Amino acid sequence: MSSEGPQAPRPGAEGLSEPLRSRWSPSVYDDQHTLSRAEIDLLLAAAQWAPSAGNSQPWVFFVCERGSANHARLVARLSRGNSGWVPRASVVFVTAAQVRTGDEDDAPAYSDYALYDVGQAAAHLTLQARTMGLHAHQFAGFDHEGLASDLELPATHVLLTGVAVGMQGDPSTVDERTAARDHKARVRRGLDEIARAGAWQESWRPIRIGTPDEGQT
Ligand SMILES: Cc1cc2nc3c(=O)[nH]c(=O)nc-3n(C[C@H](O)[C@H](O)[C@H](O)COP(=O)(O)O)c2cc1C
Repeated sequence: MSSEGPQAPRPGAEGLSEPLRSRWSPSVYDDQHTLSRAEIDLLLAAAQWAPSAGNSQPWVFFVCERGSANHARLVARLSRGNSGWVPRASVVFVTAAQVRTGDEDDAPAYSDYALYDVGQAAAHLTLQARTMGLHAHQFAGFDHEGLASDLELPATHVLLTGVAVGMQGDPSTVDERTAARDHKARVRRGLDEIARAGAWQESWRPIRIGTPDEGQT
């Protein structure tokens, strides 16, 4: 299998630069692969250097290396749909955002853009992973409340997502359902749908119309 996997790059994405071009979210990971401390630090540094509103840096990452206590905590809280593939990844970063300035429910918001900023930091981490020959797959399917309690998350923060990072694995080593996940078509709304050339009603008119899978000319 190519290191990019069967899903990348998609038609329409060929013009993107690496690591954007070959980024996608595989579900088959090599459960023997491990990351060094330096590699984990580098992934975290990519998130650390992401921009944020007023440089508020509202992010925290719980590092869950396969085999660690944090990993066991996470695995126990995964949704059924994610429990087959997430545990095999080398490391999972569980993202949290500081949303309040104090523990009280009515404490002032920490930043109006905290969720935006954590998403952006996570995106930077996933792209750094690609430059290191790794893949990343973000997920929200887990018991947020239960895991927040296990991780002793303070009331100033909320858990958002997991970012599973690792090396693509051999599909013959996983169950059929997990292997099949990596053959699902990747589709996107067209640029005419997601962009506006003027006010709301005025769609952007890309040179190539339609989604990548519609066989545009
Ligand atoms: C916030 C967020 C939550 C997601 N939750 C899940 C999830 O619980 N399980 C899963 O398998 N994938 C999950 N995904 C992955 C998306 O399904 C995936 O990114 C999307 O289908 C696009 O595919 P691509 O990343 O390969 O381009 C999530 C992605 C994001 C950004």
